[in-house]
Amino acid sequence: MEAPSEPFLSRPVAPAKPAPEEPGSHARDMLTVGGVTKRFGGFTALNQVSFEVREGEILGLIGPNGSGKTTLFNCVSGALPPTAGSIRLRGEEIGGLTPDRICHRGIARTFQIPRPFRKLTILDNVAVAAHFGTNQPNTEAQARARAREMLELVGLPTDPLAATTLLGAGGLKKLELARALATGPTLLLADESLGGLDPSEMHDAAEMLKRIRRDLGITIVWVEHIMATLMRVVDRIVVLDHGEKIAEGPPLEIAEHPQVIEAYLGEKIVLA
Ligand SMILES: Nc1ncnc2c1ncn2[C@@H]1O[C@H](COP(=O)(O)OP(=O)(O)OP(=O)(O)O)[C@@H](O)[C@H]1O
Ligand SMILES: [Mg+2]
Repeated sequence: MEAPSEPFLSRPVAPAKPAPEEPGSHARDMLTVGGVTKRFGGFTALNQVSFEVREGEILGLIGPNGSGKTTLFNCVSGALPPTAGSIRLRGEEIGGLTPDRICHRGIARTFQIPRPFRKLTILDNVAVAAHFGTNQPNTEAQARARAREMLELVGLPTDPLAATTLLGAGGLKKLELARALATGPTLLLADESLGGLDPSEMHDAAEMLKRIRRDLGITIVWVEHIMATLMRVVDRIVVLDHGEKIAEGPPLEIAEHPQVIEAYLGEKIVLA
């Protein structure tokens, strides 16, 4: 199997030790984001953002284009170091760790723009993630077996010859998801998994996230612009605008929140 170039797929490290409970975090909190700021030169992309992700929930993260959603995912997953603030996974500080360490501690993310290894087959793309993205040592055969399971889960071909180049937008999103799940996460950061999908694919993708939570017990943070679909799936929503958190609450409350309507929704979302 070809060695991957992406840092989050690098060699396993020792598993994280459980940390003592810290003030401000609760037993039910999977992730605690505390006062996270991210600056690019003089531009502040995230400003003192704080929220918790509770164990077992699907949390929606919404906001206008450029409001900082992907930047937040980049900070949590280690792709970018936060300028200030703390990020704790089950009470343990992970802010500023490298992506491979964060991945091995159980956080996986999908990319808004899919990034497969185009020269590898579909199966090998997922097998590479299964092999290098976990801190459980595994053989190539075990990685391939896990890859097959994940491909079945997302509904992609498990045929070892199926080429990645044959996948359209929907297929590439599924491949992103399978690659993230293959690393065995406890927390999944899903960045715009519905972009480019038709309405029935969108419905299926939303159902799949519910299934991933239910069957694999994975906590999910989901960034998505398709509000009507997102609001039917998530337990709570955090809203960003210009890098600041402007609201947090259950979908019905967020759909009627005046500041969220003004900054993002434009008009009230009618939940069917
Ligand atoms: N590496 C970077 N260097 C400089 N500026 C950046 C960088 N990454 C993001 N930004 C800026 O930070 C802001 C937030 O971008 P981000 O991609 O996080 O927004 P987003 O909420 O994910 O938007 P979208 O809904 O369009 O995906 C934008 O103004 C963006 O141009
Ligand atoms: Mg984004």
